[in-house]
Amino acid sequence: MDEMKKEHQKLHIAVFPWLAFGHFLPFLRLSNHLAQLGHRISFISTPKNLHRLSQIAPNLSSLVTMVPLPLPPVHGLPDSVESTSELPFRLVPYLKRAYDQLQPPLTEFLQNSDVNWLIHDFVPHWLPQVATRLGINSVFFSIFNASVLAFLGSPEEILLRDQQPLEDLTVVPEWIPFPSNVAFRLYEVIYH
Ligand SMILES: *[C@@H]1O[C@H](CO)[C@@H](O)[C@H](O)[C@H]1NC(C)=O
Ligand SMILES: *[C@@H]1O[C@H](CO)[C@@H](O)[C@H](O)[C@H]1NC(C)=O
Repeated sequence: MDEMKKEHQKLHIAVFPWLAFGHFLPFLRLSNHLAQLGHRISFISTPKNLHRLSQIAPNLSSLVTMVPLPLPPVHGLPDSVESTSELPFRLVPYLKRAYDQLQPPLTEFLQNSDVNWLIHDFVPHWLPQVATRLGINSVFFSIFNASVLAFLGSPEEILLRDQQPLEDLTVVPEWIPFPSNVAFRLYEVIYH
């Protein structure tokens, strides 16, 4: 009985980072850290990215399994592109569209596995609902720190931003109630 209980305390955690190396590496470090605690990790991404990662980070724990899901083709996204590092910034929305198309294969993987926790990135807005439906706990892992998230504001603010002048990002937002100097410089906003 006790043995069974112990078994159950070890989790099977799926992680699903956004398709960008600045996201893969923190998610990999988190995965390795969780694996050191004895949890099994399914690191889900697209084949080319997983191949590159296995070369960059050869010292992954044996408890970390790479799970490749082929990236569906999307009109406007150049062939064989699987990460932001291979794209000009203006084409990134097409990569997001392809990422959204991973919903069916990812759902199928989750359905047929014994994953009990899912750690996801900021892009797949549809994923928490899928996880809930499958009885899987999900958490959002932000690679942005608290200062950045506070500066960006609530989802409502972020949605309004497209209609606002870029200069708005160069001042401390009104919802920061304490003295702060966290704001973009204009050239940083324009570059991105
Ligand atoms: C792999 O090992 C190197 C050097 O020991 C370390 O800096 C790096 O963080 C490790 N990679 C992962 C994914 O833990
Ligand atoms: C938070 O992230 C921003 C942007 O990367 C960086 O400039 C800032 O120093 C970070 N703040 C802390 C407290 O780590």
